[in-house]
Amino acid sequence: MWRGSSTAISRRIFKLLNDQGNREFENSLTYTAFSHWFDYNELPGSASWCKTQAQEERGHALKILEHLTSRRIEDDVTGSEWEAQEAERLQNVRGTNSNGDVPTESSEASEREPDLGKLRSEAAPQKGKTFHWEQVPNIVLDVKGPFTTTFSDPIAIWRKALEQERYNSRKIFQIMAAARETQDYVTESLLMSYYIPEQLGEENAVEEVLSNTLLVMKRGPEFYYELDRSLPSKPH
Ligand SMILES: [Fe+2]
Ligand SMILES: [Fe+2]
Repeated sequence: MWRGSSTAISRRIFKLLNDQGNREFENSLTYTAFSHWFDYNELPGSASWCKTQAQEERGHALKILEHLTSRRIEDDVTGSEWEAQEAERLQNVRGTNSNGDVPTESSEASEREPDLGKLRSEAAPQKGKTFHWEQVPNIVLDVKGPFTTTFSDPIAIWRKALEQERYNSRKIFQIMAAARETQDYVTESLLMSYYIPEQLGEENAVEEVLSNTLLVMKRGPEFYYELDRSLPSKPH
């Protein structure tokens, strides 16, 4: 798909990113639930690890929402349709239409004039005009709960954490595939520069805690207290 600007975003990619934002909020709540269980069982190292991770996930959600406010939904136009429209537009501004008209000064000026679409600054108050705030109808905050705080042991928690991270990576890859398919390079660069490396770091961190948990729990649940004390305060 060809688009005329980097702010333009298709409805499809907008929705995928919005859903991902909600998923990041859900992941934040899951880590909050984990931290509650660890706190209750007097495991402050694990509790603090999960609290920090909950904040990170909230940060991921907010970053997506911020990104969406910098984009502008443009209804999908396929490559060939866009090319036909562009050819017609250029023909009109250059005046090289079938009549063989010579281009006028005003038509050249309109060619230089970029098509800005609707700018948000147009919402700024103007003297003597009725003011309306810009509405954001497209972002939907919809978190799917409830988030249980009941778990059998630390293994169950870290397994769930890894499952969640792997699922999250798959969802991000799906958005990446859709961004490539629609030639949305702006979304692609957001995922490439931030979300994909972030997932690699998080999966590695959780895998390490889970494998250490499995090792110490084999010796006995009381050995988990030792591991708890050795956990880094920052997950990755
Ligand atoms: Fe995340
Ligand atoms: Fe994560």
